[in-house]
Amino acid sequence: MLKDLCQTQGQQKLFLSKELTMTKKAEIDWETLGFDYIKTDLRYISYWKDGAWDEGTLTEDNTIHIGEASPCLHYGQECFEGLKAYQTRNGEIQLFRVDQNAKRFKDSCERLLMPTIPEETFIAACIEVVKANEAYLPPYGTGGSLYIRPMMIGIGNSIAVKPATEYLFTVFCMPVGAYFKGGMTPVDFMVSDYDRAACNGTGQQKVGGNYAASLIAHDIAVKKGFADCIYLDPLTHTKIEEVGAANFFGITKDNRFITPISCSILPSITKYSLLYLAENVLGLEVSEEDVFIDELDGFAEAGACGTAAVITPIGGIHYHNRLHVFYSQTEVGPITRKLYDTLTNIQLGDIEAPEGWITKVK
Ligand SMILES: Cc1ncc(COP(=O)(O)O)c(C=O)c1O
Repeated sequence: MLKDLCQTQGQQKLFLSKELTMTKKAEIDWETLGFDYIKTDLRYISYWKDGAWDEGTLTEDNTIHIGEASPCLHYGQECFEGLKAYQTRNGEIQLFRVDQNAKRFKDSCERLLMPTIPEETFIAACIEVVKANEAYLPPYGTGGSLYIRPMMIGIGNSIAVKPATEYLFTVFCMPVGAYFKGGMTPVDFMVSDYDRAACNGTGQQKVGGNYAASLIAHDIAVKKGFADCIYLDPLTHTKIEEVGAANFFGITKDNRFITPISCSILPSITKYSLLYLAENVLGLEVSEEDVFIDELDGFAEAGACGTAAVITPIGGIHYHNRLHVFYSQTEVGPITRKLYDTLTNIQLGDIEAPEGWITKVK
């Protein structure tokens, strides 16, 4: 039913979208795309009320009209996801590990006492939104992709601190390029005194409140000339947790792939993909373990990884008035490069993906 509805609506509006395709494709400079919002033609929207989701629809309207006492506005009852669609060399379109985003979304919803979205509905909505906005998909070879943003908010007017009585689930998309300026060139980060999230709080979920709390640390880092900040564990401030909105990994001098283990970091889908690829494709020893900030000398290379960051090499980390440089501030280390090539070639369909990692849109 959901699919039929989306297809009917999608086809009508796709006609519109095709008309616009010529000018829009020409207007977007794919090579210099960053991570700024670009309105695309259609987004998916579905409402939950009285214990059930409606059928969902695609709409041209990119605004949301909600009650002033909606719990998402006051108490942050909101969660979201981020994933990408890629055009392959032969013109197909594919999603990378969308099932993992669907699962993590479910976990976030449950943590905030929100209704869940069936995995099939989540995946179908992402597929339909990509299809409906194909005009905005950066062509193969440009380095761009179509970023997909599913989100859920608690709506309906209720001012008491309790779960909302109504919910809205929406999925929109936009073309993107590099998240950190320069893409696959090393950038420097500084260690922040602020905490991002807590273990028994919502550190492992992708909820808006974590990001609101992180804005000040990011702002300070950028004003000081760094790409972003590094968060340490909230309890002891001795161990690396996250690199801005990405996970951390390091390559030791004896070629081991290490990434932090913690109950207050987001379980990054890119990180788990790299753990698999480092071990099974590059043949490295891998481990999730504590990464102490005063033991950075053990790493020959380091990077930030995530859907938006892809792999961003870390040039140096500023901590206690000293910049610790890993491989180089200008050159990418050989293992970071190999991991990047392997991951992006899989995402673009240039090499075979491990089973279940790719969902074809077209
Ligand atoms: C705080 C945080 N950590 C890590 C990541 C990377 O996660 P993923 O690889 O699933 O995109 C993200 C981005 O989603 C993030 O927001």
